[in-house]
Amino acid sequence: MDIKQEIQKRGDFFNKELEEFLREGSPKALYNAARHLPLAGGKRLRPVLAMISCEAVKGDIINVIPLSISLELIHNFTLVHDDIMDKSKLRRGLPSVHIKFGEPTAIIAGDLLFTKAFESMHNTIGDLKVFKNVEYGLINCIREICEGQQLDMEFEKRKIVSEEEYLEMIRKKTAVFFKYAAEAGSLLGGGSKEQVNALSQYGISLGLGFQIWDDFLDVSSNEETLGKDIGNDIRNGKKTLIACHCLNKAKGDEKKKLEKIFGNLNASDKEVKKVYTLFKKLRSAEYAKKTAISYCNTAKKSLEILPDTEAKQILNAFAEYSISREK
Ligand code: IPE
Ligand code: IPE
Ligand code: MG
Ligand code: MG
Ligand code: MG
Repeated sequence: MDIKQEIQKRGDFFNKELEEFLREGSPKALYNAARHLPLAGGKRLRPVLAMISCEAVKGDIINVIPLSISLELIHNFTLVHDDIMDKSKLRRGLPSVHIKFGEPTAIIAGDLLFTKAFESMHNTIGDLKVFKNVEYGLINCIREICEGQQLDMEFEKRKIVSEEEYLEMIRKKTAVFFKYAAEAGSLLGGGSKEQVNALSQYGISLGLGFQIWDDFLDVSSNEETLGKDIGNDIRNGKKTLIACHCLNKAKGDEKKKLEKIFGNLNASDKEVKKVYTLFKKLRSAEYAKKTAISYCNTAKKSLEILPDTEAKQILNAFAEYSISREK
C-alpha cells in the first residue's frame, strides 16, 4: 500500500468540502487572509486521520466531514498565530499570513478560522449526546493546545528543560489534537468504547512522534522541501528534544559555542550549521529519531484490538509515515 496515495485520496475529497465551506466574505481583506493558509495546501493529516479512524470502526465517512473541516480550520488557526509567535516567514511554501497581510489582520483571521471551525462542527448530524461529547472534547483540546503553546514560549527563555517537561509541552501543543482527531472520528463512526479508547491511545503516541519528527525536520530538511523556515527553532532557542539532549550533554567549549548561537535571533546560517554539527556529534539528533520511532511502535501496538480492515493497515502506515516524512 502507498500511504501517500491513501492520504492524498482522502485529502482531495476533503479539499472539495473545505473549499465549499470556506467561502469569500466581507470585509474582503479579512476573508482573503483567513483563506490564504487553508487553501495553500498542507498535508491534511488531522482530517484524514479522523476519516481513517471512522473507517477503522466501519463507520460512514460522511458523518465526519463537518468534524474534519473543523479540525483543519482549528489547525490552521493555531498555525497563523504560531507563525506570529515563532517569527516564521514561510508556511506551506508561501509567505505566512502575518507577512502577507500584516499582524493585526493575521490575528483576527486566526480568530475567524476558530469561529468557522465551530460553525462547521455544528453541521454534524446524528445523536445529540454524541455530538455534545465530541464538541466538548474539541473545547478541551483547544484549551490544552493554548497551554502547550504557552509552555513552548516559556521554555525558550529557560536554560535547561527536562525531557519530561518537553514531552508534557508537546503532548499539549500537538499530540492531544491527533488524539482528538482519532477519538472523535471513531466516536462519530459509531465505534465501541474499547475501539475509541484504542484510537485515542494511538493518536497520542502518534502525535508525540509526529512533533519530535517535526523538530528533527527543522535541522535536517531544506526550505524548498519543507515549505517552512529552516533553523528557526535554533534561532528561537526552542527546547526541542534534540536541543534538550544536546544542552545536557555539551561540555566546555562546545557548551559555550552552543549557548552563544542557540536562542540568538541574528545567528548566521553558518552558525546555525555549527549547531547542527554538534547535534549530530553528541548524537542528539539520533536520540530524537530513536524516540520518535519508539512512539510510532507504541501507536501501532494500540491498534491491535481493532478489527482487521484495510483502514487498520493504513493507520499502521500512517504512524510510520509521521516519523519518516520529508515534510
Ligand atoms: C505543523 O503541522 C504543525 C505541527 C504541529 C508541527 P503539519 O506538519 O501537519 O502542517 P501542514 O498542515 O501539513 O502544513
Ligand atoms: C506548532 O509547533 C504547534 C502548533 C501550531 C500548535 P511548531 O511551532 O514546531 O510548528 P511549525 O514547525 O511552526 O510548523
Ligand atoms: Mg511553535
Ligand atoms: Mg512554529
Ligand atoms: Mg516545528
